[in-house]
Amino acid sequence: MGLIGSLSKEQLNFFDSNGFLVIESFYSSDEVLEMRNRMAELLDGFDAPSSSSIFSTKNQQLTDDYFFESAEKISFFFEEKAFGNDGNLRQPKELSINKVGHALHEIDPIFNKFSNSEKISSIFCSLGYKRPVVIQSMYIFKQPGIGGEVVPHQDNSFLYTEPPSCTGLWLALEDATIINGCLWAIPGSHKNGLVRRFIRDDNGVHFDRNSPSYNQKEFVPLEVKAGTLVVIHGDLIHQSFENKSPTSRHALSLHIVDTDGFEWAKDNWIRRKTAPEPLYVS
Ligand code: FE2
Repeated sequence: MGLIGSLSKEQLNFFDSNGFLVIESFYSSDEVLEMRNRMAELLDGFDAPSSSSIFSTKNQQLTDDYFFESAEKISFFFEEKAFGNDGNLRQPKELSINKVGHALHEIDPIFNKFSNSEKISSIFCSLGYKRPVVIQSMYIFKQPGIGGEVVPHQDNSFLYTEPPSCTGLWLALEDATIINGCLWAIPGSHKNGLVRRFIRDDNGVHFDRNSPSYNQKEFVPLEVKAGTLVVIHGDLIHQSFENKSPTSRHALSLHIVDTDGFEWAKDNWIRRKTAPEPLYVS
Protein backbone atom coordinates (compact mmCIF):
# COMPACT_ATOMS: atom_id res chain seq x y z
CA MET A 1 0.00 0.00 0.00
CA GLY A 2 2.95 2.30 0.60
CA LEU A 3 1.24 3.59 3.72
CA ILE A 4 3.58 5.15 6.26
CA GLY A 5 2.81 5.47 9.95
CA SER A 6 2.40 9.13 10.87
CA LEU A 7 3.01 8.96 14.62
CA SER A 8 6.47 9.78 15.98
CA LYS A 9 8.26 7.64 18.55
CA GLU A 10 7.47 10.26 21.19
CA GLN A 11 3.77 10.21 20.30
CA LEU A 12 3.68 6.40 20.42
CA ASN A 13 5.46 6.41 23.79
CA PHE A 14 2.99 8.97 25.15
CA PHE A 15 0.06 6.89 23.89
CA ASP A 16 1.53 3.72 25.43
CA SER A 17 1.93 5.27 28.86
CA ASN A 18 -1.19 7.44 29.00
CA GLY A 19 -3.74 5.64 26.83
CA PHE A 20 -4.56 8.76 24.85
CA LEU A 21 -2.83 11.10 22.45
CA VAL A 22 -3.75 14.67 21.46
CA ILE A 23 -2.88 15.72 17.89
CA GLU A 24 -3.46 19.43 17.36
CA SER A 25 -4.54 20.88 13.98
CA PHE A 26 -5.25 17.40 12.59
CA TYR A 27 -7.87 18.87 10.27
CA SER A 28 -7.87 22.52 9.15
CA SER A 29 -10.56 25.04 10.03
CA ASP A 30 -11.89 24.77 6.45
CA GLU A 31 -12.14 20.98 6.77
CA VAL A 32 -13.87 21.30 10.14
CA LEU A 33 -16.30 23.80 8.62
CA GLU A 34 -17.04 21.40 5.75
CA MET A 35 -18.09 18.74 8.26
CA ARG A 36 -20.15 21.14 10.36
CA ASN A 37 -21.93 22.55 7.31
CA ARG A 38 -22.66 19.05 6.04
CA MET A 39 -24.21 18.11 9.38
CA ALA A 40 -26.34 21.25 9.30
CA GLU A 41 -27.65 20.08 5.89
CA LEU A 42 -28.37 16.58 7.20
CA LEU A 43 -30.25 18.05 10.16
CA ASP A 44 -32.22 20.27 7.84
CA GLY A 45 -33.41 17.20 5.98
CA PHE A 46 -34.37 15.34 9.14
CA ASP A 47 -38.06 15.40 10.04
CA ALA A 48 -38.22 15.63 13.81
CA PRO A 49 -41.16 13.72 15.29
CA SER A 50 -43.94 15.90 16.65
CA SER A 51 -43.69 14.11 19.99
CA SER A 52 -41.18 12.01 21.86
CA SER A 53 -43.33 8.87 21.72
CA ILE A 54 -41.18 6.77 19.43
CA PHE A 55 -38.12 7.44 21.56
CA SER A 56 -39.70 6.97 24.97
CA THR A 57 -38.68 4.11 27.23
CA LYS A 58 -42.28 2.85 27.15
CA ASN A 59 -41.70 1.69 23.60
CA GLN A 60 -38.43 -0.07 24.34
CA GLN A 61 -38.67 -2.38 21.34
CA LEU A 62 -39.07 0.50 18.89
CA THR A 63 -36.23 2.34 20.59
CA ASP A 64 -34.02 -0.74 20.40
CA ASP A 65 -34.84 -1.38 16.73
CA TYR A 66 -34.08 2.21 15.80
CA PHE A 67 -30.79 1.95 17.69
CA PHE A 68 -29.77 -1.45 16.26
CA GLU A 69 -30.61 -0.46 12.70
CA SER A 70 -28.57 2.73 13.05
CA ALA A 71 -25.40 0.59 12.77
CA GLU A 72 -25.76 0.81 8.99
CA LYS A 73 -27.69 4.09 8.69
CA ILE A 74 -27.59 7.79 9.47
CA SER A 75 -29.95 8.00 12.47
CA PHE A 76 -30.80 10.84 14.83
CA PHE A 77 -30.87 10.52 18.63
CA PHE A 78 -32.32 13.19 20.90
CA GLU A 79 -30.90 14.61 24.10
CA GLU A 80 -32.71 13.17 27.13
CA LYS A 81 -33.84 16.63 28.16
CA ALA A 82 -34.93 17.66 24.66
CA PHE A 83 -38.65 17.09 25.27
CA GLY A 84 -40.96 18.95 27.61
CA ASN A 85 -43.69 17.31 29.68
CA ASP A 86 -46.11 17.86 26.79
CA GLY A 87 -43.93 15.62 24.59
CA ASN A 88 -42.90 18.49 22.32
CA LEU A 89 -39.35 19.65 21.67
CA ARG A 90 -38.33 22.46 24.01
CA GLN A 91 -35.82 23.86 21.51
CA PRO A 92 -35.49 23.76 17.70
CA LYS A 93 -34.47 20.29 16.42
CA GLU A 94 -30.93 21.45 15.60
CA LEU A 95 -30.47 22.23 19.30
CA SER A 96 -32.17 19.02 20.49
CA ILE A 97 -30.17 16.22 18.89
CA ASN A 98 -27.65 14.41 21.07
CA LYS A 99 -25.93 12.55 18.26
CA VAL A 100 -26.18 11.28 14.70
CA GLY A 101 -24.84 7.80 13.95
CA HIS A 102 -23.63 5.23 13.35
CA ALA A 103 -22.67 4.87 9.67
CA LEU A 104 -22.01 8.47 8.65
CA HIS A 105 -18.51 7.36 7.68
CA GLU A 106 -19.91 4.94 5.11
CA ILE A 107 -23.01 6.62 3.76
CA ASP A 108 -22.28 10.32 3.66
CA PRO A 109 -19.64 11.40 1.11
CA ILE A 110 -18.22 14.24 3.24
CA PHE A 111 -17.89 12.21 6.43
CA ASN A 112 -16.65 9.27 4.38
CA LYS A 113 -13.85 11.45 2.99
CA PHE A 114 -12.66 12.58 6.43
CA SER A 115 -13.14 9.20 8.15
CA ASN A 116 -11.23 7.19 5.57
CA SER A 117 -8.46 9.65 4.78
CA GLU A 118 -4.81 8.70 4.45
CA LYS A 119 -4.15 10.73 7.62
CA ILE A 120 -6.51 8.49 9.57
CA SER A 121 -5.13 5.31 7.99
CA SER A 122 -1.56 6.37 8.82
CA ILE A 123 -2.38 6.47 12.52
CA PHE A 124 -3.47 2.83 12.44
CA CYS A 125 -0.44 1.91 10.40
CA SER A 126 1.63 3.41 13.25
CA LEU A 127 -0.38 1.47 15.83
CA GLY A 128 0.30 -1.81 13.99
CA TYR A 129 -3.23 -2.58 12.75
CA LYS A 130 -3.31 -5.11 9.89
CA ARG A 131 -6.85 -4.61 8.57
CA PRO A 132 -8.43 -1.69 10.43
CA VAL A 133 -12.15 -1.05 9.96
CA VAL A 134 -14.15 1.99 11.04
CA ILE A 135 -16.99 0.17 12.77
CA GLN A 136 -19.01 3.20 13.87
CA SER A 137 -19.15 6.98 13.61
CA MET A 138 -21.01 9.48 15.72
CA TYR A 139 -21.47 13.21 15.28
CA ILE A 140 -21.91 14.42 18.86
CA PHE A 141 -23.46 17.83 19.55
CA LYS A 142 -23.22 18.30 23.34
CA GLN A 143 -25.98 20.87 23.00
CA PRO A 144 -25.93 24.14 24.98
CA GLY A 145 -27.85 23.83 28.24
CA ILE A 146 -28.97 20.21 27.77
CA GLY A 147 -25.94 18.33 26.41
CA GLY A 148 -26.02 15.02 28.30
CA GLU A 149 -23.16 13.58 30.31
CA VAL A 150 -21.30 10.47 29.20
CA VAL A 151 -20.48 8.40 32.28
CA PRO A 152 -17.01 6.83 32.75
CA HIS A 153 -16.53 3.99 30.29
CA GLN A 154 -14.10 2.08 28.07
CA ASP A 155 -14.79 1.87 24.34
CA ASN A 156 -13.83 -1.84 24.25
CA SER A 157 -16.98 -2.50 26.32
CA PHE A 158 -19.19 -1.53 23.39
CA LEU A 159 -17.17 -2.74 20.39
CA TYR A 160 -15.51 -5.91 21.51
CA THR A 161 -13.20 -8.11 19.49
CA GLU A 162 -11.32 -11.14 20.73
CA PRO A 163 -8.68 -10.08 21.66
CA PRO A 164 -9.77 -6.43 22.22
CA SER A 165 -8.69 -4.02 19.46
CA CYS A 166 -10.91 -0.93 19.58
CA THR A 167 -9.32 2.51 19.28
CA GLY A 168 -11.43 5.66 19.44
CA LEU A 169 -10.77 8.82 17.46
CA TRP A 170 -12.39 11.98 18.78
CA LEU A 171 -12.19 15.00 16.51
CA ALA A 172 -13.14 18.35 17.99
CA LEU A 173 -15.34 20.32 15.57
CA GLU A 174 -15.62 23.18 18.08
CA ASP A 175 -13.31 24.21 20.91
CA ALA A 176 -13.87 21.81 23.82
CA THR A 177 -13.40 23.22 27.32
CA ILE A 178 -14.21 22.33 30.92
CA ILE A 179 -17.15 24.74 30.57
CA ASN A 180 -18.85 23.11 27.56
CA GLY A 181 -18.17 19.44 28.36
CA CYS A 182 -14.72 18.40 27.11
CA LEU A 183 -13.37 14.85 27.46
CA TRP A 184 -11.85 13.76 30.77
CA ALA A 185 -9.63 10.69 31.10
CA ILE A 186 -7.67 8.77 33.74
CA PRO A 187 -4.12 8.66 32.36
CA GLY A 188 -2.69 5.14 32.33
CA SER A 189 -6.05 3.51 33.16
CA HIS A 190 -5.88 1.49 29.92
CA LYS A 191 -3.23 -0.69 31.57
CA ASN A 192 -5.75 -2.17 34.01
CA GLY A 193 -7.74 -4.12 31.42
CA LEU A 194 -11.38 -4.18 30.41
CA VAL A 195 -13.87 -3.88 33.28
CA ARG A 196 -17.17 -4.90 31.67
CA ARG A 197 -18.99 -5.51 28.42
CA PHE A 198 -22.15 -4.16 26.82
CA ILE A 199 -24.07 -7.24 25.65
CA ARG A 200 -26.90 -7.56 23.13
CA ASP A 201 -29.18 -10.55 23.54
CA ASP A 202 -32.84 -11.46 22.89
CA ASN A 203 -34.00 -9.02 25.58
CA GLY A 204 -32.13 -6.00 24.22
CA VAL A 205 -28.87 -4.65 25.62
CA HIS A 206 -27.30 -4.66 29.06
CA PHE A 207 -23.93 -4.51 30.82
CA ASP A 208 -22.60 -7.82 32.14
CA ARG A 209 -21.61 -6.19 35.45
CA ASN A 210 -21.91 -2.93 37.35
CA SER A 211 -19.46 -0.14 36.82
CA PRO A 212 -16.86 0.34 39.52
CA SER A 213 -16.85 3.81 41.06
CA TYR A 214 -13.96 6.00 40.01
CA ASN A 215 -12.12 8.65 41.95
CA GLN A 216 -12.99 11.88 40.13
CA LYS A 217 -9.65 13.35 41.21
CA GLU A 218 -7.87 10.91 38.89
CA PHE A 219 -9.47 12.35 35.75
CA VAL A 220 -7.67 15.04 33.76
CA PRO A 221 -9.52 17.36 31.35
CA LEU A 222 -8.60 17.26 27.66
CA GLU A 223 -9.35 20.82 26.61
CA VAL A 224 -8.69 21.12 22.88
CA LYS A 225 -9.19 23.49 19.96
CA ALA A 226 -11.42 22.70 16.98
CA GLY A 227 -9.52 20.52 14.50
CA THR A 228 -7.67 18.61 17.24
CA LEU A 229 -7.82 14.81 17.16
CA VAL A 230 -7.72 12.76 20.36
CA VAL A 231 -6.71 9.11 19.96
CA ILE A 232 -8.22 6.96 22.71
CA HIS A 233 -7.08 3.46 23.71
CA GLY A 234 -10.02 1.03 23.91
CA ASP A 235 -9.39 0.33 27.61
CA LEU A 236 -8.92 3.99 28.67
CA ILE A 237 -11.45 5.17 31.28
CA HIS A 238 -12.94 8.41 29.98
CA GLN A 239 -16.07 10.51 30.43
CA SER A 240 -17.60 13.92 29.78
CA PHE A 241 -19.94 16.02 31.86
CA GLU A 242 -23.24 17.67 31.09
CA ASN A 243 -23.02 20.87 29.11
CA LYS A 244 -24.85 23.51 31.08
CA SER A 245 -23.13 26.34 29.22
CA PRO A 246 -24.62 28.40 26.38
CA THR A 247 -21.97 27.03 23.95
CA SER A 248 -22.26 23.74 22.05
CA ARG A 249 -19.35 21.32 21.74
CA HIS A 250 -19.57 19.46 18.43
CA ALA A 251 -17.28 16.48 17.83
CA LEU A 252 -16.92 13.58 15.41
CA SER A 253 -16.18 10.25 17.03
CA LEU A 254 -14.92 7.22 15.11
CA HIS A 255 -14.22 3.76 16.42
CA ILE A 256 -11.82 1.43 14.70
CA VAL A 257 -11.22 -2.28 15.25
CA ASP A 258 -8.79 -4.70 13.62
CA THR A 259 -10.34 -7.49 11.58
CA ASP A 260 -7.20 -9.51 10.85
CA GLY A 261 -6.49 -11.92 13.72
CA PHE A 262 -9.30 -10.40 15.81
CA GLU A 263 -12.83 -11.76 15.99
CA TRP A 264 -15.89 -9.49 16.18
CA ALA A 265 -17.98 -10.66 19.18
CA LYS A 266 -21.38 -11.97 18.12
CA ASP A 267 -23.05 -10.44 21.19
CA ASN A 268 -21.93 -6.90 20.32
CA TRP A 269 -24.79 -4.48 19.67
CA ILE A 270 -23.61 -3.99 16.08
CA ARG A 271 -24.51 -6.94 13.86
CA ARG A 272 -23.61 -5.98 10.33
CA LYS A 273 -25.58 -7.27 7.36
CA THR A 274 -22.80 -6.17 5.04
CA ALA A 275 -19.13 -6.41 5.96
CA PRO A 276 -17.50 -2.97 6.34
CA GLU A 277 -14.61 -1.99 4.08
CA PRO A 278 -11.17 -1.76 5.73
CA LEU A 279 -9.12 1.45 5.82
CA TYR A 280 -6.32 -0.62 4.24
CA VAL A 281 -4.95 -4.14 4.21
CA SER A 282 -1.32 -4.48 5.28
FE1 FE2 B 1 -15.92 6.65 24.54
